[in-house]
Amino acid sequence: MSRELGRRRALGLLAAGSAAVATGVAGWVWRIGAPEETAVGAATSGEPLRAPPERLARDGVLTVPLDAGPGVRLAGRDTSALGFNGSSPGPTLRVRPGDDLRVRLTNRLGQPTNLHTHGLHVSPRGNSDNPFLSIAPGETFDYRFRIPDDHPPGTFWYHPHRHGLVADQLFGGLAGALIVDGGPELAETERVLVVTDLSLTEAGDVVPAGPRERMLGREGNLVLVNGQHEPVVELRAGATERWRVVNACTSRVLSLRPENARVTRVGSDGFLLPRPVPRQRVVLAPGNRADLLVTPTGPGRGRLVSDPVRRGHGGMPGMGGTADPVPGAGGTRQGPVTLVRLDVSGPATGTSREPPAELPAPPLPGRSVSRRREIAFTMGMGGMGGMGDGDGMRGPGMRFGFDGRAFDADRTDQTVAAGATEEWLIRNDTPMDHPFHLHVWPFQVVGSSDGGQADGSLRDVVLVPARGWARLRVHFADHTGRTVYHCHILDHEDAGMMATVRVGG
Ligand code: C2O
Ligand code: CU
Repeated sequence: MSRELGRRRALGLLAAGSAAVATGVAGWVWRIGAPEETAVGAATSGEPLRAPPERLARDGVLTVPLDAGPGVRLAGRDTSALGFNGSSPGPTLRVRPGDDLRVRLTNRLGQPTNLHTHGLHVSPRGNSDNPFLSIAPGETFDYRFRIPDDHPPGTFWYHPHRHGLVADQLFGGLAGALIVDGGPELAETERVLVVTDLSLTEAGDVVPAGPRERMLGREGNLVLVNGQHEPVVELRAGATERWRVVNACTSRVLSLRPENARVTRVGSDGFLLPRPVPRQRVVLAPGNRADLLVTPTGPGRGRLVSDPVRRGHGGMPGMGGTADPVPGAGGTRQGPVTLVRLDVSGPATGTSREPPAELPAPPLPGRSVSRRREIAFTMGMGGMGGMGDGDGMRGPGMRFGFDGRAFDADRTDQTVAAGATEEWLIRNDTPMDHPFHLHVWPFQVVGSSDGGQADGSLRDVVLVPARGWARLRVHFADHTGRTVYHCHILDHEDAGMMATVRVGG
């Protein structure tokens, strides 16, 4: 440890006082509370927000190497967390409809991995968005994603999808934004904000999740935007920016609330809304994205915070009692988390452009539904090792699955006719919220038990509340092949809450 780090850490310990909360294995010292307070310990806060490196397609092709491996700078310090090409989040990949995206993935992780282009409407076959691939340690694999000519422009992202290791690798830092350009320019300044969370030891290692965190879905005590802690964005009062926010957290639901700024939502997940919607709060389950127009309301300081969200209850005997909120006893976060600080200079310019009254939203699935299905998230007490492999798990574990069955890559759970429009009722009879994600084909949420999410727009992740349901309409258009749907609390996915769907022959 350098003398400088040591001194800062010591100062942090002194300054932390009664507001300090020691978390994590080695006790990363943390301070939370009032807006002006900064994290102490070894994290650096309040630096100008940086964009992840960008890779742009040229002449219809984007060829990009992605080396997955340890060793990235996070929150201003060197860590052994994971990144692509030494950066977490990885580079922002920018393509256009009709482009060819060629990714050479090199695995320097010491365990298998692969790559998923979350939300992209591309083929699930071969070396495209195929979640059944496994790239061994030390291997290099050439992915090729052909973006259809009529692909909607929007905000997507990429992350590993090797079953059993997804949560560890994402929590470790492996995620990046993937933008399909070509939509309307809605603001002069556009930013990508990839939100991740993780816990680090004092030595800068990622804290491994225990059995209880795997059951509840792990949340980190560091919430980062583009790998930075509470970065600052300088804005001019009244000037609108477009922010593409990706919730790349493993399990954390973000409940975004602006202070000293107005927010208008123009896109959910990768899809433009039919019209801009002013919002006081935007809830993003893991995997969800939001395209926001952010307009500071006056000079001075502001923030974008995420308020705490209860994700239901663990409520399972032997796994933390019957009344533990999720996340449980750790209770590291009581108050809002600052994602970004705003530094607004004034006075308002008055030249800010208003968003258009209507947006070129992609077409919705048709109303004539050829088949209805019911699919249920299920949790139950299992036998030995029900939680998945390793981690010192002993005794009866939780069995996570759909319709009472854990994931089996060789079993086809749903068979859908190519081109069909179906309605899927996703039931959640468990005591925890689960975000439902389907690969390749976006869906329209046509109803849900909590009402709020059925805004009629397209999306690819929907949060299905505990003891609730969501009704989705899906048009299985353009592509055929086998892929997966799963809970996007990736600890649950790794524990078996995933199933397969085959579309066409
Ligand atoms: Cu973002 Cu199958 O996942
Ligand atoms: Cu879940």
